[in-house]
Amino acid sequence: MRLLEQRILRDGKVRPGGVLKVDGFLNHQMDVELFRLLAQQWHEAFRADNVTKILTIEASGIGLACIAAQEFGCPVLFAKKTKTKNIDGAVYTTRVESFTHGTVYDVIVAKEYLLPTDRVLLIDDFLANGAALEGLCDLVRQAGATLVGAGIAVEKCFQPGGARLRGQGLRIESLARIKSMSEDSLAFMD
Ligand code: G4P
Repeated sequence: MRLLEQRILRDGKVRPGGVLKVDGFLNHQMDVELFRLLAQQWHEAFRADNVTKILTIEASGIGLACIAAQEFGCPVLFAKKTKTKNIDGAVYTTRVESFTHGTVYDVIVAKEYLLPTDRVLLIDDFLANGAALEGLCDLVRQAGATLVGAGIAVEKCFQPGGARLRGQGLRIESLARIKSMSEDSLAFMD
């Protein structure tokens, strides 16, 4: 079994409504040594792709993205969630509709930090319905940059995001792949 899957079995908790709590090591308290080992796995997968920028979305993706950026030796850019109506021409913007949280928000990145010459790797903690990741793909597209792929910590494979985005040609490397979960059982993909 994979490293992150072992850790989820040990320290994760499944809450009613299909939410996996990983607050103790992934997205509240953060185990930085674990992050380093996960980042090495993404680097192994994407080392030949000449990544020049890592793009994530606030908030929970930022810690993972920073450690990954150390492996790749490139900067991290995080898309900001905003409620501001007056978005000026200096930013790329896209709308993210989260089914998990029941919210809609705009996310932005400054044009000066996402360039047509960039080769972008997306990093995030969860892939569920895929709305957040799809928003990041759209920002890369707007910039005319090259999308290398996505490194995901936990993919909930029973939700549709991964299949849809792979179907659109996105390469996704997920380090823990959950096949099914309930409060008293958790199964990973083979
Ligand atoms: P969505 O379309 O249902 O919104 O799914 P998506 O894959 O885009 O994930 C949306 C948000 O929900 C993400 O947070 C993701 O981290 C979080 N999420 C989804 N499933 C789980 C889960 O089982 N456990 C936990 N802990 N989080 C989950 P976000 O909107 O980017 O916000 P933030 O938490 O990073 O601030």
